[in-house]
Formats: sequence, C-alpha cells, structure tokens
Amino acid sequence: MFRNFRWQIAIWFFALSSVVYITLSLAGGAYFYNSLSNSMDHELKVVGSQIGHAIDLSGSNPTFRDWLREVETEPARSVMAMQLFDSNGKLLEHYGPTGIPRLITNRTEATTGSESYRIFHSKLTHKGSIVGHLQLQLNTAKRAELTKEFLLTMAYMAPFVLLGFGLCGYFVSGMAAKPIELLVSTLQRLVADAGHELNTPASIVQARAQSLERKLSKHGHYENDLKIIANSAERMGYIVKNLMVLAEIDSIGNAGKSARDSIKNKAKTGLQEQIANAVSEFSERFAEKNINLEVTTIEDALAVTDRESLQCILANLLENALKYTEPGGKVTVSCQLSATAAQIKISDSGIGIPADDLSRIYDRFYRVDKSRSRSSGGAGLGLSIVKAIAERDGGSVAVSSTLGKGSEFIVTLPIDKTTLVAQNLHTRF
Ligand SMILES: Nc1ncnc2c1ncn2[C@@H]1O[C@H](COP(=O)(O)OP(=O)(O)OP(=O)(O)O)[C@@H](O)[C@H]1O
Ligand SMILES: [Mg+2]
Repeated sequence: MFRNFRWQIAIWFFALSSVVYITLSLAGGAYFYNSLSNSMDHELKVVGSQIGHAIDLSGSNPTFRDWLREVETEPARSVMAMQLFDSNGKLLEHYGPTGIPRLITNRTEATTGSESYRIFHSKLTHKGSIVGHLQLQLNTAKRAELTKEFLLTMAYMAPFVLLGFGLCGYFVSGMAAKPIELLVSTLQRLVADAGHELNTPASIVQARAQSLERKLSKHGHYENDLKIIANSAERMGYIVKNLMVLAEIDSIGNAGKSARDSIKNKAKTGLQEQIANAVSEFSERFAEKNINLEVTTIEDALAVTDRESLQCILANLLENALKYTEPGGKVTVSCQLSATAAQIKISDSGIGIPADDLSRIYDRFYRVDKSRSRSSGGAGLGLSIVKAIAERDGGSVAVSSTLGKGSEFIVTLPIDKTTLVAQNLHTRF
C-alpha cells in the first residue's frame, strides 16, 4: 500500500515536473526569440538613426554618399541590407546583402523564399517634402539558429533534469509518506491488538450467556434478556473476527511484494471442490428460506488463493445472496476460466443495490440499508473482506445490480495455468 502510495506521488511529481519543464522550455524559447527580435530591431534603429548624414538628399533622388562605400569596418554592414528608394517606392540603390528588393512600410518582418528579414523603414525628407525612403533589413537566420540551439539544449538536458526531478519526487514522497505510514500502521496494530484482546472476552460472554440461557430456560422471564445478550455477544465476536481478518490482510499488503509472493506460492486451491463445499454448507439454509440455489458451469483449476481465503470469499457472497434475496427467489453460482484467471459469479434475484451505493459497498462498515442489515446481523464488513482478499491475491471483484431485480458479483482470481482442467457440471442443490 505505502510502496504504491510512494510510487504514485513520485510518478505524479515526475509527470507534473515534466509538464512544468516542457512549458518553461517553450516559454523560455519564445522569450528568447522575442528578445532576439527586439535586439535586432534596436540594432536596425540605431543604424537607421545614424545613417541619415551618409545620404545625399540634394539631388532629384537620394543617394548614398561615396564615403559610406569606403567604410569597410561598419559592424552591421556584412549582414544588414541598406536600400534607398525614390518617393514612388522604386529601388535606387542598395548596399550590403540584397535582402528583399522592395519597399515594405507596413510590417516589421517579411519573408522571401526561405529567408526572413526584420525591417526598418524611414521616410527621407528634403525641404519639407518626401524625396525617398531608407530601408534597412536584417536576416533572421541567426535568430532562428540561436532559438533552435536554446531549445535543443533544453531537450538534451531534459533526461537529466527529469531524472533529477524523479529522484527528488521519490525521496520527498518517501519523507511525506513516513508519518502517514506510521499513523496507519499504528492504527492497524491497534485494531489487530484490540481484536485479539476483545476476541476472548466476547467468546466467553457469548458462551456463558448461551449456557445460562439453557440452564435458566425453565424460568421463562430471563430467557428473552439472555437471548439478547447471547446475540449481541455473537455479533460482537463476528465483528471482532472480521476486523482481525482485515487487519491481517492489511499487514500482508504492507509487508511488500516478496511477502505477498511467498504467500501466493504456498496457496493453491481447487476451485471446483471449494465451490462445492461452500454451496453444500449453505444449501440447507437456502432451502429453509425457500431460495433456489443452483450451480451451473464450474470449470476447474487451481486458484492462486489459499483455501481459507477462498472459503471466506464464497461464504460472504453466498451469505449476502441469502440475506438479500426474498423467499421464492433464485441464486446461481458459476465459475468460468480464461487463459489466466477464474471468474466466479454469484447472481441473485434479490433486492438489488441502488446505483448510487454501488461504489461504496466495499467500504468498511458500509451498509445500504442500515436498519435492515443490522437486524440481520450485518456489520458491513463482508464485501470489504472479499475485495481485500481478491486484490491481495492479484484478482478483483465487480458488481452489477438492478434495484428490485437482483445483483451479480463477479470475483476474478488468478489461476495456476499449469494445472488447468476444464470440466462442466450442471448440478442442482
Ligand atoms: N447480494 C446483495 N444484494 C443486495 N444488497 C447487497 C448484496 N450484497 C451486499 N449488499 C449490500 O451491500 C452492503 C455491504 O455488504 P457487506 O457484505 O459488506 O455487509 P453486510 O452484509 O451488511 O454485513 P456483513 O457482511 O459484515 O455481515 C450490504 O449491507 C447490503 O446493503
Ligand atoms: Mg455481507
């Protein structure tokens, strides 16, 4: 249970960290890309603002002054395209790389073929009238390359960072689980110890009350009180025993995989024989209540569950079917095999379970109709034991039910595939 809990937290931590890392990487990439664009714009603006005095506006069209051509060390010159257009947008001359040879006044970035450029544009005026345009362009290839490099670095770092997050998650979840683990194991020990301590006095009270009931049966007026004491003691004993069963299953669940495996390896039980035993134990009580108990297909195999646990599962489900089916009803038991598991089905034509309660019937002490189950001695522990045993042994339990029509419980248990014997029986009890 705690191993699962720890792994679950670690996996969640890892998954959320991965999402955060990927999101941050993409956001970082976008921010980086944006910063590079801004810095290109800044560079264009600086050059644009300083280049004005290198343009001769005295003629009919603007021209670059000769000395500009001689400035070979201009830093931006090798990558920046400088273009002069006349007032109608016709390219007059360009300097540096070709860039996009047309005037672009409404955008800060433009693309031609596979190349993309950041654009700076300014109008050239002489004596109050527009005589042309200056356009500067910077190729964005470097920006794409740097952004790609940033994202690739984040991607290369991802396995290490995420592994680090995973390890931290596992470590932190271990620390977080410790106090809870301590609390739950204390609680489980408390239930188990209390169970052991209460078991003996409860049995003594029950036995003594029954003996007194017999001895004083002649004095009629004590009989009723003693019956109540005996029944209550019996019910107490039943609850204590069931709590002890659950505490034991929990302790095995917490003991780790190796302990569970060693129990599994010891426990193998013939399904056909155990189902027949359980059914024959209950047949008299079913007959007394006038409920038809029928066994249909039973395919035999060795279930990877010990005899006592299998009996406990069958007894609880048959007890429920008996308790929650009216006289004249029908209960059917079957067992079918798949390649790896056995499906034991117990269906009844009983009172059924409301859809809203279906998910809660496996909770400890949960009863759909409390007054009814209490009067029939139910504590709401039977199905939680069935589920705990099935899951401990690698199986599961499922239910389908229609209110007023009946219920079907399906217990799936792993089987030992090496001893698979298929056999069909059709028996009526
Ligand atoms: N076959 C069934 N038909 C209708 N209701 C059922 C059936 N089996 C279980 N339930 C409902 O689910 C509840 C839980 O069942 P569970 O076996 O855990 O407890 P219980 O039978 O009340 O008490 P306990 O099994 O401890 O004696 C029951 O109280 C009952 O309301
Ligand atoms: Mg029950």
